[in-house]
Amino acid sequence: MAIKVSTRLLMLSTFFILTSIPITSFACPLHQKQALLHFKSTLTTILNSNSSSPIDSWNPNSDCCTWDRVKCSTTANVTELHLSTIVPLSVNRVFSEILAPIFQIQSLELLDISMNLLQGEIPDRFGNLTRLIHLDMTQNSFTGPIPASMQNLSSLETLQLKNNKLAGEIPTWLFNITTLKNLFIGGRGSTLILNNRAKIVPNCSLQYISMPYCGISGEIPEWISSQKELAFLDLSGNQLEGKFPDWLAELDVGIIILSDNNLTGSIPPRLFESINLSVLALSRNKFSKELPENIGNARGLVILMLSGNNFSGQVPKSISKIFGLNILDLSNNRFSGDNFPVFGESPFHMYFDFSYNDFSGKVPLTLSSFLRVLNLGGNKFSGDLPSNLTNMDRLEILDLHNNDITGNFQDVLPQIPNLQVLSLRNNSLEGFIPRTISNLTSLRILDLSGNNLTGNIPPEISSLEKMIETPPMETLFDAVLIYGLRSDDLRNANEFQDLIFNWKNSFRGLSRRNLNIYSLLDLSDNRISGEIPASLGNLKGLKLLNISHNSISGKIPTSFGNLEGIETLDLSHNEISGLIPQSLAKLDELAILDVSNNMLSGKIPLGGQMNTMNDLRYFANNSGLCGMQIMIKCPEDIIPTDGSEEEEEKQSWILWEGAWVGFPIGFFITILIMGYYLNFLLLNFGEMFYDSQFRHLPIGEF
Ligand SMILES: *[C@@H]1O[C@H](CO)[C@@H](O)[C@H](O)[C@H]1NC(C)=O
Ligand SMILES: *[C@@H]1O[C@H](CO)[C@@H](O)[C@H](O)[C@H]1NC(C)=O
Ligand SMILES: *[C@@H]1O[C@H](CO)[C@@H](O)[C@H](O)[C@H]1NC(C)=O
Ligand SMILES: *[C@@H]1O[C@H](CO)[C@@H](O)[C@H](O)[C@H]1NC(C)=O
Ligand SMILES: *[C@@H]1O[C@H](CO)[C@@H](O)[C@H](O)[C@H]1NC(C)=O
Ligand SMILES: *[C@@H]1O[C@H](CO)[C@@H](O)[C@H](O)[C@H]1NC(C)=O
Ligand SMILES: *[C@@H]1O[C@H](CO)[C@@H](O)[C@H](O)[C@H]1NC(C)=O
Ligand SMILES: *[C@@H]1O[C@H](CO)[C@@H](O)[C@H](O)[C@H]1NC(C)=O
Ligand SMILES: *[C@@H]1O[C@H](CO)[C@@H](O)[C@H](O)[C@H]1NC(C)=O
Repeated sequence: MAIKVSTRLLMLSTFFILTSIPITSFACPLHQKQALLHFKSTLTTILNSNSSSPIDSWNPNSDCCTWDRVKCSTTANVTELHLSTIVPLSVNRVFSEILAPIFQIQSLELLDISMNLLQGEIPDRFGNLTRLIHLDMTQNSFTGPIPASMQNLSSLETLQLKNNKLAGEIPTWLFNITTLKNLFIGGRGSTLILNNRAKIVPNCSLQYISMPYCGISGEIPEWISSQKELAFLDLSGNQLEGKFPDWLAELDVGIIILSDNNLTGSIPPRLFESINLSVLALSRNKFSKELPENIGNARGLVILMLSGNNFSGQVPKSISKIFGLNILDLSNNRFSGDNFPVFGESPFHMYFDFSYNDFSGKVPLTLSSFLRVLNLGGNKFSGDLPSNLTNMDRLEILDLHNNDITGNFQDVLPQIPNLQVLSLRNNSLEGFIPRTISNLTSLRILDLSGNNLTGNIPPEISSLEKMIETPPMETLFDAVLIYGLRSDDLRNANEFQDLIFNWKNSFRGLSRRNLNIYSLLDLSDNRISGEIPASLGNLKGLKLLNISHNSISGKIPTSFGNLEGIETLDLSHNEISGLIPQSLAKLDELAILDVSNNMLSGKIPLGGQMNTMNDLRYFANNSGLCGMQIMIKCPEDIIPTDGSEEEEEKQSWILWEGAWVGFPIGFFITILIMGYYLNFLLLNFGEMFYDSQFRHLPIGEF
């Protein structure tokens, strides 16, 4: 039992890789070669391109068993076709008709046409390929029903239909295919429905059941309890209700993903007595009560995600015994207590999210220095920011916003060169921003808004390279394949909490994928004074610069015209004087420019995006701004004619200045902006992720 999960999972994840070595002593039969050449020519015609294709090596003069993506049996019959991603994504329409020649190769045992965006209904003729063992059609655009002819695939072990646009009821005969072991069906975009009232008595023994977004309502289907070999269960995104069934806790399943349902009650303690349990994702349900004390007995847990439920009480101390835990997400619950579990050092700990609970006490120190993401935001942590956070030198995201953390920022700033995101918004930090901020060489998002910081903006901020260039981070989802959790399982699962930032005065979400490209600097709502360092204009990767609600004086540097990526520039509620520099007209991405409540004067520059900056509130309460944006003629634009008109102009000027006094302040809504997250994590760490899974598994037992 102990090796059930690991063996199966590894088998599945590698069966497309460890394919048979072609034996070339026989040549493949002519009719099979012709069928393949026919397929190639149809494909080439449809693609209408002379560019190289992955099947260029399919040459009429050679044995088709030697071709790329083709594998033969020892008797030289074509048994495997690996045609995943052969259609470039630049091609808009490819119909399943191009598959026609393939149906003549009746010896096929493996057909992989995943990720090709093929359209149309699944051809009936699939039923003819009766020797198929593995059929992978994931991530195409197939529509219509699952064809009845598939009943005839009497050797089928793996059926992957996920992430298509299939519709209709999932036929119950699927479960009569006695050989079936791995079923992947549904997913986003699919409107297939598993009728939970239909009587299903499986004749197969499934190891993988992946049926996310299959419209399953009612309780977790009880027929699953007959699947004693089950290693993987994904029923996320359905409408499941009721409790976590005891029988499921007893099945010793390795991976259980039930996120985004309406499940209630508590988690049965029996679940954590399973040494097979490696992934448990129950986020966004209605689970409640305390976590079972024995949670730490699930020593094999690698991913535990319980976000968005109503769990309460203390986090059981035993959780720290789970040495191999990579991802722990307890965010958005009602966990409490000032007695944080003592997590020791573990090279596996990578992503811990405790945000939006009721934790109190000091910021916990006893965390592994291997963590890459730590989110403690939205709790009641207090006391000084611990200085030894600096020891966590692998941290990439540190989010402590909405707590009551104190300390002199210059002393407590964690000096972590890998840190990319630091959010300390809405705490009680004092002191000043130290020059050593420039030690944080990876920083691309810095949010210090809503503290009591004083002093100047140090020019050293301008040397933060990742705010100058924001190189895209690897999209490492694509490399992630843990335990057969395919990359899209994670990406689509929407599993991770967003980072929360202030963005464009509204509750706008920045998608996780955008974390890649966003660079933000928010120093607003402090007591920062002095002038804006001209070098701040170097930060051309910044999308948002918010230094509003401080006591900043001096002028807007002309160099701000170099902030070429800037979308939101908020300088409001300061003591800035002088002119708005003409250079701002160079900012092509500018969407919000708020300079209100300063001492600016003169003409608002024209040109480029500046012509669209016509929200009166963003210019209010200054010392004499004028310009077409606010419908006020500037003195220099007034062509004097006779005395009376001049008088009129003067009067409207005075009226305008008066009009701003008493403008309502209510529009300064405090904003929580759903930020992004997580790409990072998975994106950046997939590799380690992947490695660590397998290091962690009892590989020796295979
Ligand atoms: C492909 O190459 C042939 C010969 O070089 C040329 O005549 C044809 O126009 C090309 N087709 C495309 C789509 O570029
Ligand atoms: C299906 O297989 C039968 C023989 O088993 C063959 O006669 C028939 O042409 C095949 N159908 C298609 C559409 O390839
Ligand atoms: C299954 O195969 C049999 C025999 O080849 C055929 O008569 C039948 O129509 C097929 N069933 C479906 C649903 O295609
Ligand atoms: C969460 O649980 C508490 C009792 O522990 C209950 O009073 C509350 O209504 C629950 N909240 C939700 C949203 O279910
Ligand atoms: C920080 O210090 C405390 C004791 O002062 C220690 O228990 C903890 O492990 C340290 N954390 C790190 C990350 O070094
Ligand atoms: C600041 O954080 C506290 C929790 O510590 C929260 O109650 C409050 O709403 C937050 N304020 C803002 C403006 O986000
Ligand atoms: C931070 O930078 C200063 C110089 O700016 C350097 O002396 C110091 O050692 C750096 N600290 C760390 C922890 O890298
Ligand atoms: C800038 O920060 C202030 C204070 O934190 C906030 O009220 C304002 O909405 C922010 N500006 C923008 C444009 O997001
Ligand atoms: C202008 O200042 C007045 C007085 O301080 C204030 O009531 C009003 O809300 C301000 N207007 C804007 C648009 O900020």
